[in-house]
Amino acid sequence: MFVERNVPLQPLNSFGIAARATALVRVRGEADVRAVLAYAELGAQPRFVLGGGSNIVLTGDLRAVVLKVEVMGRRVLEATDRHTIVEAGAGENWHDFVTWTLAQGLGGLENLALIPGTVGASPVQNIGAYGVELQDRFHELDAIDLRSGELFTLNAAECGFGYRDSVFKHTPAEPGGFGLAGRALILRVRFALPKAWKPVLGYLDLERKMQETGVAEPTARQIYEWVVAIRRAKLPDPAVIGNAGSFFKNPTVTPEQCQDIIGRDPKVVHYPMPDGSFKLAAGWLIDACGWKGKRVGNAGVYEKQALVLVNTGGHEQPATGGEVMTLARAIQTSVYERFGIRLEPEPVVV
Ligand code: EPU
Repeated sequence: MFVERNVPLQPLNSFGIAARATALVRVRGEADVRAVLAYAELGAQPRFVLGGGSNIVLTGDLRAVVLKVEVMGRRVLEATDRHTIVEAGAGENWHDFVTWTLAQGLGGLENLALIPGTVGASPVQNIGAYGVELQDRFHELDAIDLRSGELFTLNAAECGFGYRDSVFKHTPAEPGGFGLAGRALILRVRFALPKAWKPVLGYLDLERKMQETGVAEPTARQIYEWVVAIRRAKLPDPAVIGNAGSFFKNPTVTPEQCQDIIGRDPKVVHYPMPDGSFKLAAGWLIDACGWKGKRVGNAGVYEKQALVLVNTGGHEQPATGGEVMTLARAIQTSVYERFGIRLEPEPVVV
């Protein structure tokens, strides 16, 4: 095991925020985790599990041992009656993995193409896009207990998936005590890809592509290419301009609240949910408050999509976590004052 000390984290988070970690260990398998636990000096320190760093905001130095997940490997495991089960190491790049499944002739993950981050981070926030959520394709995952070093496997129910949420985003100290944040490290994830593949096309942007191209029955590969094109046009590439994807969750409101807002702002983008509630487009609410292109220091609101906060200072003069959070709070206040809705940040703030 090799311990790196006083490690710069700027290259390891997609926002490009400059911060340091007390120590960092690269985890290529369970043996590395057990070595950290057995190492007296490190064993007692707090731990922080880092994947691709594409869904975090660093507000200061990390006084912790960072476990940088680099567990690799992808394979087709088995076929059941209805599914093909594929497995990937938590350190694999998510988009490369999606591309690989399609190259194996396996559809099912195409709507989730080009989401930044790693396979191991995908269940943490239950990534979702264009009508598909990770939980729709999830089979199970292997993780290691960061206190005992024991391996365990969780199925979908045990992961407690919700909208951009799972058991891995909650700490054990929260009510219920089921949270696994800081307590488990995901090693491998298995996906169940349907043998009878069906396209998921309900999303407006995809319907538009069908009309533009005249393709009425797209293949999984075709949808993959459309999703890549849509995302490239709308969302900033973190390799060019630092960001953490959507900065806020789309809020859910009651039918009464929704009617009230429609009464005042008839154009508000809203979607009915199966339980009778409505989901509002946070990007629209922020845009309506005039935030596109606004800045606090070197943190800014992306010009083409108000839901994404960006680092406008690049590598040389990066936004600080403080600037990002000041901007985020100002946005929350203005959306609350105008619409009475509290926006909740989507990335993990550390
Ligand atoms: N809108 C505006 N102004 C804006 C941004 C959006 O008016 O500045 C409107 C759009 O015109 C559209 C609606 O708001 O009518 C929704 O926008 P969009 O379709 O771009 O999707 P989103 O709700 O902003 C969500 C996810 C994305 C995911 C897309 C596609 C969340 C928090 N975000 O964004 O996920 O890619 O749908 O499915 O659920 C992420 O989580 O990091 C992420 C990028």
